[in-house]
Amino acid sequence: MLKRAQEIAAVLKKADEVHIVTHIDADGITAGAIAQATIQRLGKTSSIECVKQLDEMVLKRLKKEGHELVWFTDLGSSIADDIPKMTMIVTDHHMCSKESHLRYHLNPHLFGIDGSFEISGAGVTYLVSKTIDPVNVDLSALAVVGACGDLQDRRHCKLVGMNKTFLEDGITAHVLECRKDIRFFGRETRALPRFLQYANDPILPGLSGREEACVSFFEDLKIRLDHKESARRWIDLSYDERKTILSALARLLLTKGFSAALVERMIGEVYLLAREEPGSELHDAKEYATLLNSTARYGKHEVGLAVCLGDRGKSLDDARILLQGHRQNLVESLQFARDETLQKRTYVQFFHAGEGIRDTIIGIVTNMMLHDENVDKNMPLLGFVHTENGDVKVSARTTQQVIERGVDLSAALRHAAAAVQGVGGGHDIAAGATIPKGKEEEFLVLVEQKIRTQLSL
Ligand code: C5P
Ligand code: C5P
Ligand code: ZN
Repeated sequence: MLKRAQEIAAVLKKADEVHIVTHIDADGITAGAIAQATIQRLGKTSSIECVKQLDEMVLKRLKKEGHELVWFTDLGSSIADDIPKMTMIVTDHHMCSKESHLRYHLNPHLFGIDGSFEISGAGVTYLVSKTIDPVNVDLSALAVVGACGDLQDRRHCKLVGMNKTFLEDGITAHVLECRKDIRFFGRETRALPRFLQYANDPILPGLSGREEACVSFFEDLKIRLDHKESARRWIDLSYDERKTILSALARLLLTKGFSAALVERMIGEVYLLAREEPGSELHDAKEYATLLNSTARYGKHEVGLAVCLGDRGKSLDDARILLQGHRQNLVESLQFARDETLQKRTYVQFFHAGEGIRDTIIGIVTNMMLHDENVDKNMPLLGFVHTENGDVKVSARTTQQVIERGVDLSAALRHAAAAVQGVGGGHDIAAGATIPKGKEEEFLVLVEQKIRTQLSL
């Protein structure tokens, strides 16, 4: 991988101008920002765009625009052919075939490394950046935000593999800190009741989704919810208070029959951006990633990129406003998805949100739905929505236990989508596709056939 990174670094050093194409999620934005900072530090000109997915239309347009050099980050591994007169660099981590025709292609799967939890798109891009100039190690903070945005810490409750190396780079460069703490989202910004109400890994029986029950939970433990009229957050608690809460949560889970292994998932590594203000949306890597998702998934990628590149003025203010909208949108979309009938088939379960959910957040909603009590954790969950272009967007998510039985959603969706003139791909545990409207049933049959085969191997 390092050798390939060096080849790519040499191409970038020689170029005058670089056009960057990246993905609209947090990993894509951090990857794009790392690429942009790297080019800027080389004193060269760059332009950047964000796309929902890399399809034939985007590639045709890029070819027409006549760029000398295009750097694809967090996407690009699916490109089948070279484009004459356009040099292409790809730093991606999605599943791909080992026989790639692309010359400047850096993807962990080409080197036997798993791109679903050992390295993200931002990480692959960071590897090139660090190879160009060791001074770029400060960008490791963005690589960790990208990995957390892609939930790469989920399997082991901490970052492992190359992600861990990037974390160490960041600690040495004083841009990152690592602590052992509760893993629920919102340690730094959520008021205590909401912090537990939205906890989902593991879900807290009787508390998840119930604000009043969460308030009583803290009252019973004699934990004050406010201090001088402002709501207390997890980071405002004393060590003893945290211990009291964790013991009570552990007791709750164990009495409800949860395994000790599941209880342990509450605790893990959390990553802090050492140069950011504690209690801000940028201090915790997961919260930073959510702030970025609030920008590019709503067509405002320039806001997220500017925040990554250091703007703590207008862009951060704008991002905070977008975050409010994103939160509201998630609450409403999740409710919408819950109101749809969940349809169970032999090998998958699915819901179809029609026009009810934005195609850019269906993946996040499907992920959240997977944790719902009435959703079967033993089979993949698919969420369907209509897109603005009149197509159908599909997001598929599953659990570690299912992939351990041989299921690979990336292969299943890629195969099924291609058979109905769509495109699909991703990771074993999380994949997506876009297919023509009306092909949903045919697509589901094909996905199920593929999963049945995967399970029987
Ligand atoms: O396109 P990209 O690779 O950046 O996106 C990865 C997607 O996979 C994210 O939506 C992330 O939430 C999802 N994922 C997941 N569970 C994991 C790993 C990734 O849902 N364990
Ligand atoms: O869009 P969604 O979040 O459901 O995608 C899950 C994963 O599948 C992401 O890593 C995404 O980049 C990938 N994907 C893909 N090809 C598509 C759609 C999604 O590789 N056509
Ligand atoms: Zn990614």
